[in-house]
Amino acid sequence: MFPTSPRRALVTGGSAGIGKETVKALVAKGYEVIVAARDAAKGEAVLNAIRAEHPGAQLSFHALDMSQPDAVVAFAQQVQARWDRIDALVLNAGLFTPQLRTGVTGHEFMFATTHLGHFALTHQLLPLVEAAPAGRIVVTSSVAHFFAGGFDFGSLREPSSSTFLMVAPFVAYGRSKLANLLFVRELARRLQGSKVLVNSFHPGSVKTEIWRGTPGLFNALISPGLISEREGAQTQVFLATDPSLAQSGQHWFRKKIEQGSPASRNPELAQRLWDYSEQALGIRRFGRPQGGVELVRARRA
Ligand SMILES: NC(=O)c1ccc[n+]([C@@H]2O[C@H](COP(=O)([O-])OP(=O)(O)OC[C@H]3O[C@@H](n4cnc5c(N)ncnc54)[C@H](OP(=O)(O)O)[C@@H]3O)[C@@H](O)[C@H]2O)c1
Repeated sequence: MFPTSPRRALVTGGSAGIGKETVKALVAKGYEVIVAARDAAKGEAVLNAIRAEHPGAQLSFHALDMSQPDAVVAFAQQVQARWDRIDALVLNAGLFTPQLRTGVTGHEFMFATTHLGHFALTHQLLPLVEAAPAGRIVVTSSVAHFFAGGFDFGSLREPSSSTFLMVAPFVAYGRSKLANLLFVRELARRLQGSKVLVNSFHPGSVKTEIWRGTPGLFNALISPGLISEREGAQTQVFLATDPSLAQSGQHWFRKKIEQGSPASRNPELAQRLWDYSEQALGIRRFGRPQGGVELVRARRA
Protein backbone atom coordinates (compact mmCIF):
# COMPACT_ATOMS: atom_id res chain seq x y z
CA MET A 1 0.00 0.00 0.00
CA PHE A 2 1.36 3.47 -0.84
CA PRO A 3 1.14 5.88 2.12
CA THR A 4 -1.23 8.82 2.01
CA SER A 5 0.18 10.54 5.13
CA PRO A 6 3.08 13.02 4.64
CA ARG A 7 6.08 11.13 3.35
CA ARG A 8 9.78 11.65 3.96
CA ALA A 9 12.78 11.46 1.64
CA LEU A 10 16.51 11.71 2.15
CA VAL A 11 18.47 13.01 -0.85
CA THR A 12 22.27 12.93 -0.93
CA GLY A 13 23.74 15.60 -3.20
CA GLY A 14 20.45 17.49 -3.00
CA SER A 15 22.14 20.90 -3.00
CA ALA A 16 22.83 21.15 -6.74
CA GLY A 17 21.97 19.82 -10.17
CA ILE A 18 19.76 16.78 -10.51
CA GLY A 19 19.47 16.28 -6.74
CA LYS A 20 18.33 19.86 -6.18
CA GLU A 21 15.54 19.46 -8.77
CA THR A 22 14.52 16.19 -7.16
CA VAL A 23 14.30 17.93 -3.78
CA LYS A 24 12.09 20.62 -5.34
CA ALA A 25 9.81 18.03 -6.94
CA LEU A 26 9.54 16.06 -3.69
CA VAL A 27 8.67 19.19 -1.74
CA ALA A 28 6.01 20.04 -4.34
CA LYS A 29 4.56 16.56 -3.75
CA GLY A 30 4.38 17.25 -0.02
CA TYR A 31 7.42 15.25 1.10
CA GLU A 32 9.53 16.29 4.04
CA VAL A 33 13.10 16.21 2.66
CA ILE A 34 16.42 15.68 4.42
CA VAL A 35 19.30 16.91 2.26
CA ALA A 36 22.97 15.99 2.66
CA ALA A 37 26.00 17.38 0.82
CA ARG A 38 29.41 18.83 1.74
CA ASP A 39 29.07 22.58 1.27
CA ALA A 40 26.77 23.91 4.02
CA ALA A 41 26.61 27.50 2.72
CA LYS A 42 25.58 26.34 -0.75
CA GLY A 43 23.14 23.80 0.68
CA GLU A 44 21.42 26.25 3.03
CA ALA A 45 21.12 28.85 0.23
CA VAL A 46 19.49 26.30 -2.08
CA LEU A 47 17.09 25.15 0.62
CA ASN A 48 16.17 28.75 1.46
CA ALA A 49 15.34 29.36 -2.21
CA ILE A 50 13.09 26.27 -2.19
CA ARG A 51 11.43 27.45 1.05
CA ALA A 52 10.74 30.80 -0.61
CA GLU A 53 8.95 28.99 -3.46
CA HIS A 54 7.17 26.58 -1.10
CA PRO A 55 6.40 28.29 2.20
CA GLY A 56 5.92 25.66 4.89
CA ALA A 57 8.23 23.16 3.16
CA GLN A 58 9.78 20.73 5.63
CA LEU A 59 13.44 20.72 4.70
CA SER A 60 16.70 20.27 6.54
CA PHE A 61 20.30 20.46 5.36
CA HIS A 62 23.13 18.34 6.81
CA ALA A 63 26.78 18.86 5.93
CA LEU A 64 28.23 15.48 5.03
CA ASP A 65 31.17 14.18 3.03
CA MET A 66 30.02 10.82 1.67
CA SER A 67 33.62 9.70 1.17
CA GLN A 68 34.13 9.54 4.97
CA PRO A 69 32.51 6.46 6.55
CA ASP A 70 32.73 7.83 10.11
CA ALA A 71 30.91 11.01 9.05
CA VAL A 72 28.28 8.90 7.27
CA VAL A 73 27.69 6.92 10.46
CA ALA A 74 27.48 10.07 12.60
CA PHE A 75 24.94 11.52 10.15
CA ALA A 76 22.92 8.27 10.18
CA GLN A 77 22.87 8.43 13.98
CA GLN A 78 21.36 11.92 13.82
CA VAL A 79 18.78 10.77 11.30
CA GLN A 80 17.84 7.74 13.35
CA ALA A 81 17.52 9.81 16.53
CA ARG A 82 15.17 12.27 14.85
CA TRP A 83 13.13 10.27 12.34
CA ASP A 84 11.55 6.82 12.47
CA ARG A 85 10.89 6.23 8.78
CA ILE A 86 12.25 7.09 5.34
CA ASP A 87 9.93 6.56 2.38
CA ALA A 88 12.52 7.35 -0.28
CA LEU A 89 16.28 7.09 0.12
CA VAL A 90 17.74 8.90 -2.90
CA LEU A 91 21.45 8.11 -3.30
CA ASN A 92 22.42 10.81 -5.76
CA ALA A 93 25.66 12.47 -4.56
CA GLY A 94 28.45 12.06 -7.04
CA LEU A 95 31.27 13.92 -8.73
CA PHE A 96 33.94 13.78 -11.40
CA THR A 97 37.51 14.52 -10.32
CA PRO A 98 39.84 15.48 -13.19
CA GLN A 99 42.82 14.19 -11.17
CA LEU A 100 42.64 10.84 -9.43
CA ARG A 101 43.07 10.99 -5.66
CA THR A 102 42.31 8.86 -2.63
CA GLY A 103 39.91 9.56 0.24
CA VAL A 104 40.32 8.79 3.94
CA THR A 105 39.76 5.05 3.51
CA GLY A 106 42.52 4.87 0.91
CA HIS A 107 40.04 4.31 -1.92
CA GLU A 108 39.83 6.34 -5.11
CA PHE A 109 37.68 9.36 -4.23
CA MET A 110 34.81 8.97 -6.73
CA PHE A 111 34.36 5.30 -5.78
CA ALA A 112 34.60 6.21 -2.07
CA THR A 113 31.90 8.87 -2.43
CA THR A 114 29.52 7.35 -4.89
CA HIS A 115 29.68 3.69 -3.91
CA LEU A 116 31.24 3.11 -0.48
CA GLY A 117 29.55 6.14 1.12
CA HIS A 118 26.14 5.12 -0.16
CA PHE A 119 26.77 1.48 0.77
CA ALA A 120 27.49 2.56 4.37
CA LEU A 121 24.52 4.94 4.49
CA THR A 122 22.13 2.28 3.20
CA HIS A 123 23.47 -0.23 5.73
CA GLN A 124 22.76 2.22 8.54
CA LEU A 125 19.37 3.45 7.33
CA LEU A 126 17.80 0.34 5.79
CA PRO A 127 15.69 -0.29 8.93
CA LEU A 128 14.11 3.17 8.46
CA VAL A 129 13.32 2.47 4.80
CA GLU A 130 11.86 -0.90 5.80
CA ALA A 131 9.68 0.90 8.35
CA ALA A 132 7.95 2.80 5.50
CA PRO A 133 4.82 1.26 4.00
CA ALA A 134 6.38 1.25 0.50
CA GLY A 135 10.07 2.12 0.84
CA ARG A 136 12.12 3.14 -2.19
CA ILE A 137 15.85 3.29 -2.75
CA VAL A 138 16.98 5.14 -5.89
CA VAL A 139 20.60 5.29 -7.01
CA THR A 140 21.87 7.78 -9.60
CA SER A 141 24.11 5.79 -11.91
CA SER A 142 25.04 6.76 -15.47
CA VAL A 143 25.50 5.48 -19.00
CA ALA A 144 29.16 6.22 -18.19
CA HIS A 145 29.23 2.88 -16.35
CA PHE A 146 30.08 1.44 -19.81
CA PHE A 147 33.47 3.31 -19.61
CA ALA A 148 34.58 0.93 -16.88
CA GLY A 149 34.43 -2.16 -19.08
CA GLY A 150 34.85 -4.79 -16.38
CA PHE A 151 35.56 -3.99 -12.75
CA ASP A 152 39.22 -3.60 -11.86
CA PHE A 153 39.38 -4.22 -8.09
CA GLY A 154 43.17 -3.84 -8.23
CA SER A 155 43.05 -0.11 -8.97
CA LEU A 156 40.52 0.85 -6.27
CA ARG A 157 43.29 1.59 -3.82
CA GLU A 158 46.07 2.55 -6.18
CA PRO A 159 44.57 5.13 -8.49
CA SER A 160 47.79 7.14 -8.68
CA SER A 161 49.44 4.56 -10.94
CA SER A 162 47.30 5.69 -13.87
CA THR A 163 47.03 9.39 -13.01
CA PHE A 164 49.01 10.42 -16.07
CA LEU A 165 46.63 8.83 -18.53
CA MET A 166 44.02 11.34 -19.62
CA VAL A 167 41.35 8.67 -19.75
CA ALA A 168 42.01 7.33 -16.24
CA PRO A 169 39.54 9.69 -14.48
CA PHE A 170 36.83 8.74 -16.98
CA VAL A 171 37.43 5.04 -16.38
CA ALA A 172 37.38 5.62 -12.60
CA TYR A 173 34.16 7.66 -12.87
CA GLY A 174 32.65 4.88 -14.98
CA ARG A 175 33.70 2.32 -12.39
CA SER A 176 32.03 4.29 -9.60
CA LYS A 177 28.81 4.33 -11.66
CA LEU A 178 29.15 0.60 -12.48
CA ALA A 179 29.47 0.02 -8.73
CA ASN A 180 26.14 1.88 -8.28
CA LEU A 181 24.45 -0.47 -10.70
CA LEU A 182 25.97 -3.63 -9.23
CA PHE A 183 24.96 -2.46 -5.75
CA VAL A 184 21.36 -2.02 -6.87
CA ARG A 185 21.20 -5.45 -8.51
CA GLU A 186 22.61 -7.21 -5.44
CA LEU A 187 20.62 -5.19 -2.88
CA ALA A 188 17.37 -5.87 -4.77
CA ARG A 189 18.20 -9.58 -4.83
CA ARG A 190 18.77 -9.53 -1.07
CA LEU A 191 15.54 -7.59 -0.51
CA GLN A 192 13.38 -9.92 -2.62
CA GLY A 193 10.07 -10.45 -0.83
CA SER A 194 10.36 -7.20 1.15
CA LYS A 195 8.29 -4.07 0.46
CA VAL A 196 11.39 -2.06 -0.47
CA LEU A 197 12.01 -1.38 -4.18
CA VAL A 198 15.54 -0.47 -5.24
CA ASN A 199 16.45 0.84 -8.69
CA SER A 200 19.18 2.78 -10.49
CA PHE A 201 18.89 5.16 -13.42
CA HIS A 202 20.76 7.25 -15.97
CA PRO A 203 19.49 10.85 -15.94
CA GLY A 204 20.67 11.71 -19.46
CA SER A 205 23.48 14.20 -20.11
CA VAL A 206 22.43 17.06 -17.86
CA LYS A 207 23.69 20.64 -17.66
CA THR A 208 25.00 20.66 -14.09
CA GLU A 209 28.10 21.63 -12.15
CA ILE A 210 29.56 18.14 -12.59
CA TRP A 211 31.07 19.19 -15.93
CA ARG A 212 33.28 21.85 -14.36
CA GLY A 213 35.89 19.12 -13.90
CA THR A 214 35.87 17.73 -17.43
CA PRO A 215 38.25 19.02 -20.15
CA GLY A 216 37.16 22.09 -22.17
CA LEU A 217 37.16 20.29 -25.51
CA PHE A 218 35.01 17.51 -24.08
CA ASN A 219 32.59 20.14 -22.70
CA ALA A 220 32.43 21.95 -26.04
CA LEU A 221 31.49 18.70 -27.76
CA ILE A 222 28.78 17.63 -25.34
CA SER A 223 27.25 20.96 -24.31
CA PRO A 224 24.80 21.34 -27.25
CA GLY A 225 23.10 18.08 -26.25
CA LEU A 226 22.75 18.71 -22.52
CA ILE A 227 19.26 18.62 -21.01
CA SER A 228 18.00 20.72 -18.10
CA GLU A 229 18.43 19.70 -14.46
CA ARG A 230 14.66 19.42 -14.13
CA GLU A 231 14.45 17.01 -17.07
CA GLY A 232 17.37 15.04 -15.65
CA ALA A 233 15.53 14.62 -12.35
CA GLN A 234 12.35 13.18 -13.82
CA THR A 235 13.25 9.49 -13.73
CA GLN A 236 14.64 9.91 -10.21
CA VAL A 237 11.37 11.42 -8.99
CA PHE A 238 9.40 8.71 -10.79
CA LEU A 239 11.43 5.91 -9.15
CA ALA A 240 11.19 7.57 -5.74
CA THR A 241 7.48 8.33 -5.75
CA ASP A 242 5.35 6.76 -8.47
CA PRO A 243 2.78 4.43 -6.88
CA SER A 244 2.58 2.31 -10.06
CA LEU A 245 6.22 1.21 -9.82
CA ALA A 246 6.53 -2.50 -9.02
CA GLN A 247 10.00 -3.35 -10.40
CA SER A 248 13.14 -3.69 -8.34
CA GLY A 249 16.79 -4.28 -9.23
CA GLN A 250 16.43 -2.53 -12.60
CA HIS A 251 18.34 0.22 -14.38
CA TRP A 252 16.21 2.98 -15.99
CA PHE A 253 16.50 5.78 -18.53
CA ARG A 254 13.61 8.12 -19.37
CA LYS A 255 11.30 6.05 -17.12
CA LYS A 256 12.01 2.89 -19.13
CA ILE A 257 14.08 -0.13 -18.17
CA GLU A 258 17.52 -0.38 -19.80
CA GLN A 259 19.75 -3.44 -19.89
CA GLY A 260 22.99 -1.81 -18.80
CA SER A 261 26.44 -3.15 -19.69
CA PRO A 262 27.23 -6.89 -19.60
CA ALA A 263 29.36 -6.30 -16.47
CA SER A 264 26.44 -4.60 -14.73
CA ARG A 265 24.38 -7.76 -15.23
CA ASN A 266 27.01 -10.14 -13.85
CA PRO A 267 25.71 -11.55 -10.53
CA GLU A 268 29.12 -12.93 -9.49
CA LEU A 269 30.66 -9.48 -9.93
CA ALA A 270 27.82 -7.92 -7.92
CA GLN A 271 28.41 -10.43 -5.12
CA ARG A 272 32.17 -9.84 -5.20
CA LEU A 273 31.75 -6.07 -4.97
CA TRP A 274 29.28 -6.55 -2.13
CA ASP A 275 31.76 -8.70 -0.17
CA TYR A 276 34.56 -6.22 -0.91
CA SER A 277 32.44 -3.30 0.34
CA GLU A 278 31.39 -5.07 3.55
CA GLN A 279 35.01 -5.91 4.28
CA ALA A 280 36.28 -2.43 3.45
CA LEU A 281 33.72 -0.86 5.80
CA GLY A 282 33.80 -3.51 8.52
CA ILE A 283 30.10 -4.31 8.12
CA ARG A 284 29.03 -7.59 9.69
CA ARG A 285 25.34 -7.90 8.80
CA PHE A 286 24.23 -5.48 6.11
CA GLY A 287 21.16 -3.43 7.01
CA ARG A 288 21.21 -4.65 10.62
CA PRO A 289 23.52 -2.21 12.40
CA GLN A 290 24.22 -3.34 15.95
CA GLY A 291 22.22 -1.56 18.63
CA GLY A 292 20.45 0.65 16.10
CA VAL A 293 23.56 2.17 14.59
CA GLU A 294 26.82 0.33 14.18
CA LEU A 295 30.08 2.19 14.22
CA VAL A 296 31.65 1.29 10.94
CA ARG A 297 35.40 1.09 11.13
CA ALA A 298 36.97 1.40 7.71
CA ARG A 299 40.01 -0.81 7.37
CA ARG A 300 42.99 1.22 6.36
CA ALA A 301 45.21 -1.60 5.31
N1 LIG B 1 25.08 15.70 -15.05
C1 LIG B 1 25.04 14.61 -15.79
O1 LIG B 1 25.01 14.67 -17.05
C2 LIG B 1 25.01 13.25 -15.15
C3 LIG B 1 24.87 12.13 -15.98
C4 LIG B 1 24.82 10.88 -15.40
C5 LIG B 1 24.88 10.74 -14.03
N2 LIG B 1 25.03 11.83 -13.24
C6 LIG B 1 25.07 11.64 -11.79
O2 LIG B 1 24.09 12.45 -11.19
C7 LIG B 1 24.45 12.70 -9.82
C8 LIG B 1 24.27 14.18 -9.50
O3 LIG B 1 25.22 14.90 -10.30
P1 LIG B 1 24.92 16.34 -10.92
O4 LIG B 1 25.18 16.21 -12.37
O5 LIG B 1 23.62 16.85 -10.44
O6 LIG B 1 26.18 17.13 -10.32
P2 LIG B 1 26.28 18.44 -9.39
O7 LIG B 1 25.43 19.52 -9.91
O8 LIG B 1 27.75 18.67 -9.28
O9 LIG B 1 25.69 17.96 -7.97
C9 LIG B 1 26.39 16.98 -7.21
C10 LIG B 1 25.84 16.96 -5.81
O10 LIG B 1 26.55 15.95 -5.06
C11 LIG B 1 27.16 16.58 -3.92
N3 LIG B 1 28.43 15.89 -3.62
C12 LIG B 1 29.50 15.75 -4.42
N4 LIG B 1 30.49 15.09 -3.77
C13 LIG B 1 30.01 14.81 -2.53
C14 LIG B 1 30.55 14.16 -1.40
N5 LIG B 1 31.81 13.66 -1.38
N6 LIG B 1 29.78 14.03 -0.30
C15 LIG B 1 28.51 14.54 -0.28
N7 LIG B 1 27.95 15.15 -1.33
C16 LIG B 1 28.70 15.29 -2.45
C17 LIG B 1 27.35 18.04 -4.32
O11 LIG B 1 27.43 18.94 -3.22
P3 LIG B 1 28.84 19.32 -2.52
O12 LIG B 1 29.82 19.56 -3.62
O13 LIG B 1 28.53 20.52 -1.68
O14 LIG B 1 29.20 18.13 -1.70
C18 LIG B 1 26.05 18.27 -5.08
O15 LIG B 1 24.99 18.48 -4.19
C19 LIG B 1 25.88 12.20 -9.67
O16 LIG B 1 25.86 10.94 -9.02
C20 LIG B 1 26.37 12.05 -11.10
O17 LIG B 1 27.38 11.08 -11.21
C21 LIG B 1 25.09 13.10 -13.78
